[in-house]
Amino acid sequence: MADQRRPTGHEKIETSNFLMIVLILLAVAVGGLVEIVPLFFQRSTTQPVEGLKPYTALQLAGRDVYIREGCYNCHSQMVRPFRSETLRYGSYSQAGEFVYDHPFQWGSKRTGPDLHRVGGKYSDDWHRLHLIAPRSLVPESNMPDYPWLEKAAIDPASMGPRMQALRRVGVPYTDEEIAKAAEAVNGRSELDAIVAYLQVLGTAVK
Ligand code: HEC
Repeated sequence: MADQRRPTGHEKIETSNFLMIVLILLAVAVGGLVEIVPLFFQRSTTQPVEGLKPYTALQLAGRDVYIREGCYNCHSQMVRPFRSETLRYGSYSQAGEFVYDHPFQWGSKRTGPDLHRVGGKYSDDWHRLHLIAPRSLVPESNMPDYPWLEKAAIDPASMGPRMQALRRVGVPYTDEEIAKAAEAVNGRSELDAIVAYLQVLGTAVK
């Protein structure tokens, strides 16, 4: 004969789809909030590390080229705190190094190496050659050629508004920096810009 007693306590939850779904959602929501909300207020995740500077106009233009070209599809920018990574790339990435990055380029896809500590690793000339024709320097590379960057100019008039937009979300650009932005990139190519960007990556922490 079937068990006729009424479900009690935990059994009641497990035998009701509705209760089960609502309580799971509640548990996930509370758990998520407890993990995520403090990150918006903690010093280590909201304060820039000492020595961190906002990108210059040229570096910022380079960052936008990096995003446009989808470099993040093959390159992460986050050295994880594991020995195998710190030996290869240098000191692990800290949240405070990215507070002026909107959006950050951490990523997780590594067809190529992590780039967070690539700043200063090679000369500007190395980067220029490598971006135009990667296989001229690394024969086994499967990185695409980016020959057009050398010929494409940056639009000087667009830099002021780009920096103003970033200032609105907390990047401390001064009026003077914004006023001089157009002049700073005038006549520079996208290749100049992306090399300037790569060379500053990860250099705020010694
Ligand atoms: C299809 C994947 C792919 C894409 C897209 C790609 N790369 Fe690479 N990248 C690689 C691979 C693989 C390597 C390692 C071989 C080499 O050095 O060429 C590499 C190496 C590099 C290195 C040298 C890193 C080091 O520490 O030696 C830099 C710098 C770099 N890429 C920048 C870029 C930039 C900037 C872009 C976008 C314009 C880009 N990559 C797009 C795959 C890619």
